Amino acid sequence: MARILVTGGAGYIGSHTMVELLAAGHDVVCLDNFSNSSPEAVKRVQEIAGREVRLFTGDIRDRSLLDSLFHAVKVDAVIHFAALKAVGESVAKPLAYYENNVAGTLTLLEAMRAAHVMRIVFSSSATVYGNPDKLPITEDAPVRPFNPYGQTKAMVEQILRDWCVAEPGAAAVALRYFNPVGAHPSGRIGEDPADIPNNLFPFITQVAIGKRERLSVFGNDWPTVDGTGVRDYLHVVDLALGHVKALDWLARDHGFVAINLGTGQGTSVLEMVHAFESATGAKVPHTIVARRPGDIAACWADASLAHRLLHWQATRSLEDLCASGWRWQQANPEGYRTV
Ligand code: NAD
Ligand code: WQD
Repeated sequence: MARILVTGGAGYIGSHTMVELLAAGHDVVCLDNFSNSSPEAVKRVQEIAGREVRLFTGDIRDRSLLDSLFHAVKVDAVIHFAALKAVGESVAKPLAYYENNVAGTLTLLEAMRAAHVMRIVFSSSATVYGNPDKLPITEDAPVRPFNPYGQTKAMVEQILRDWCVAEPGAAAVALRYFNPVGAHPSGRIGEDPADIPNNLFPFITQVAIGKRERLSVFGNDWPTVDGTGVRDYLHVVDLALGHVKALDWLARDHGFVAINLGTGQGTSVLEMVHAFESATGAKVPHTIVARRPGDIAACWADASLAHRLLHWQATRSLEDLCASGWRWQQANPEGYRTV
């Protein structure tokens, strides 16, 4: 087993991944500046796993902190979640996104190289594809993001490609997540948006619990099954398990590879609303409104490369996904803030 540094490990996907890393027998070191998360999440990860996480509080942009961390603990590989991730915010504050997501990753890679840590799993996103020409999306589809957030992901992927060419021993997997949703079955960790959720699923759960009055459905005039937007919703635990598999690939191969993590199935907004209502018994009042600027009609993955290279595929159903997210929301109406 290995010792894995998880940057951004207190976040939504990082916390779920730390649980699965610990369950797989890895030792876990977490670095997080808690800019969009809570130390409570790390405590609960340890509670679920029954094992300790070594926590460093700080920023990936702090080179001296990184050097001291790599000096203090022998790290075998890094899973790099730490980033800003709100598309709309990235349009308003592009420099903050390039500074945190790109410059921050450069600092991390330089510290890794100095410490001879040459294996990394990177949190990329299906956003790098922009508006796809055809569906399902394969990894050789054009990379053409149309917002600064997506650009930061595409830039880091390029940096990793070049790094792996320059450094013979380097190995990097860029996992292009589609739409992660849901929560750990315990209901103890989950998605905890800081304010009004941008994303569909947390908005649905907040409407269902009565925190929001109703869901605005952004358009029903898209060229899709029922006119509403179609996406590939992936259970966050399936996603977390994909990272454990990606580490296995890093241990047996080298170079750079980008891999889609998705279910391969598209689900419309209204299909998600109805699936949530039938899985939970909760009601989700909703109104059709105008399209959201920057949205695309449909996006879902061809996940065959993940199956072939990582021996991974999503196994959890839409019902599992809805029930797990509802369990988290009911048990934590204010996320981690109640403690
Ligand atoms: P999140 O905001 O919950 O987690 C990110 C974590 O990183 C937070 O704990 C935050 O405090 C930390 N962080 C941010 N900047 C940091 C810095 N400079 N130094 C140290 N810690 C820092 O987000 P998430 O949904 O868990 O996403 C994790 C990763 O996956 C991100 O890179 C995101 O871009 C990517 N991603 C997310 C989605 C999604 O829909 N959630 C989809 C595709 C890709
Ligand atoms: C899903 C569908 C909306 C909210 C975003 C980022 C992407 C990634 C995942 C980081 C769309 C519709 C939504 C609402 C709605 N994040 N919707 N009412 O836009 O596919 O992807 O999150 O990497 O980068 O772009 O996800 O959940 O925002 O929207 O009708 O209140 O739900 O139009 O069709 P999206 P989303």
